Amino acid sequence: MASIRIRGAKEEDCGEILKLIRELAEYEKLSDQVKISEEALRADGFGENPFYHCLVAEILPAPGELQGPCIVGYGLYYFIYSTWKGRNVYLEDIYVMPEHRGQGIGSKIIKKVAEVALDKGCSQFRLAVLDWNQKAIDLYKALGAQDLTEAEGWHSFRFEEEVMKKLAGR
Ligand SMILES: CC(C)(COP(=O)(O)OP(=O)(O)OC[C@H]1O[C@@H](n2cnc3c(N)ncnc32)[C@H](O)[C@@H]1OP(=O)(O)O)[C@@H](O)C(=O)NCCC(=O)NCCS
Repeated sequence: MASIRIRGAKEEDCGEILKLIRELAEYEKLSDQVKISEEALRADGFGENPFYHCLVAEILPAPGELQGPCIVGYGLYYFIYSTWKGRNVYLEDIYVMPEHRGQGIGSKIIKKVAEVALDKGCSQFRLAVLDWNQKAIDLYKALGAQDLTEAEGWHSFRFEEEVMKKLAGR
């Protein structure tokens, strides 16, 4: 069986990550919302004060194989803050290419995020999932996550840029 490595993304991975971001948005039936560019991903993830961090999952070539490692999934996260619990991690995206699903890669990414979060002194790690994505919901629950909508009734809200401008008087 091919071996999988989870590693921190490098700036030069941004093109590949953008391709996977688009695939995830398509899976989520929300492709029209993807406005991000490779340049923005490079600037925002790899500057002096990165806005996000990213892990990539890659398949390593077997000894003697000529092709290099191949990125088949990613997990993109950033640090947030809870006034109740302090340091938190938010996993914005997790995605594994269809032909590589069901082999433990997604779970490996989640375990790595948990490891990074603990290393940074975080006491929680959060994410959101669409209500119809039962397979992902089942996976998160199987790994021990709590459904906050079910347990506490939270709804997720978003102010779009136009609304923000109105609010800010711009
Ligand atoms: C969710 C996802 C990241 C899990 O990655 P993975 O590598 O398939 O996960 P693992 O192999 O560690 O875990 C497999 C489990 O995930 C489940 N799973 C979740 N979504 C799945 C999917 N779309 N296809 C196949 N299996 C999926 C399987 O049911 C499996 O459970 P089982 O082991 O009890 O059979 C991956 O399936 C994926 O990218 N799905 C599409 C995008 C998505 O839903 N992202 C999450 C958005 S919140």
